[in-house]
Amino acid sequence: MKALILIGGEGTRLRPITTNTLKCIVPIANKPFIEYQINLLKKYGIKDIILSVCCMPEKAKKAIGNGKKYGVRFKYAGELRPLGTGGAIKNCEALLDDTTIVMNGDILTDINMDSMIKTHRTSKALVTLALHEVDDPSSYGLVETGAKGEVLKFTEKPAGFERKSGWINAGMYVLARQALDYIPTGRNVSIEREIFPSIISSGKLMQAYKGGYYWLDIGRIEKYMEANFDVIEGKFSGVKAKARGKKCRIGKSIIDNRSVLGNSVTIGSGALIENSVILDNTVIKSGAIIKNSVICRGCVINENCTVINTALGDNSILTKYTKYGV
Ligand code: GTP
Repeated sequence: MKALILIGGEGTRLRPITTNTLKCIVPIANKPFIEYQINLLKKYGIKDIILSVCCMPEKAKKAIGNGKKYGVRFKYAGELRPLGTGGAIKNCEALLDDTTIVMNGDILTDINMDSMIKTHRTSKALVTLALHEVDDPSSYGLVETGAKGEVLKFTEKPAGFERKSGWINAGMYVLARQALDYIPTGRNVSIEREIFPSIISSGKLMQAYKGGYYWLDIGRIEKYMEANFDVIEGKFSGVKAKARGKKCRIGKSIIDNRSVLGNSVTIGSGALIENSVILDNTVIKSGAIIKNSVICRGCVINENCTVINTALGDNSILTKYTKYGV
């Protein structure tokens, strides 16, 4: 079986981390994010992976490679303009087999692929959609299911919505080839908002997969940080990740156990780093305080600066005593 990973989004909500870097390769505990997804697919014997990119496939190819270093084979499918999640899948039609696993390129998960595929085969559904239960579904659409686990309805955050928990679309599904017939060619179309609802209203079966598994959408800054911390604290395992990159120079400072330092990071004496992710080649000088923040690559945080609840883009330079987010 092949997998298709959608990596052509702009990643606007993860800026500035994605200003110069594709979302699918932002570092999570010193490993490019996509490595976590590939490891999962490999675990289930899936080694043929199509990467659906948008606009700059050459740049993506250069950054991600041909899969050899991960022991898999990548094929790239590019779009001339953004086609949306549905259009992107349709664009890959010629590369797909009868059944394909599709994943959004921003989901950190240890879902049991075998079990999801089994649910798909047993139910003979056109699509089997992984669902995840969240405590606060306010920023997601809800998915309602019937007694046999069939998907009945998608509800976009209704006004006055007060429910405490609910099942959401986890951004991973098993797709029968016939599902592609529901996707129009050559235009931007969302699989979640347009195609899935039209499959249901046509009377075809869309099955839910509700197995318990770790799930995190890394697409927002706080979730990106959470992913780093979960990996470091062992709440998510699957890749040999590291809290400290190579060639770091660390003075007499206080760095909590969950914070992550990239490669060649310098931390001056008397600095305090808490709940934070510091990316490659950044220098944090003495007396600086960094809390609940992401400091991207090549930044210089000068002496006695304070950065709290902030994400600073690549090559930011803060002059002495600057206070950010305080
Ligand atoms: P935001 O700009 O922050 O919303 O990010 P996004 O567009 O990357 O995220 P979204 O959650 O909307 O997309 C879900 C997945 O589909 C992500 O992995 C995206 O990379 C991917 N995706 C979204 N739009 C497209 C598209 O037009 N083409 C392709 N190939 N992939 C897409």
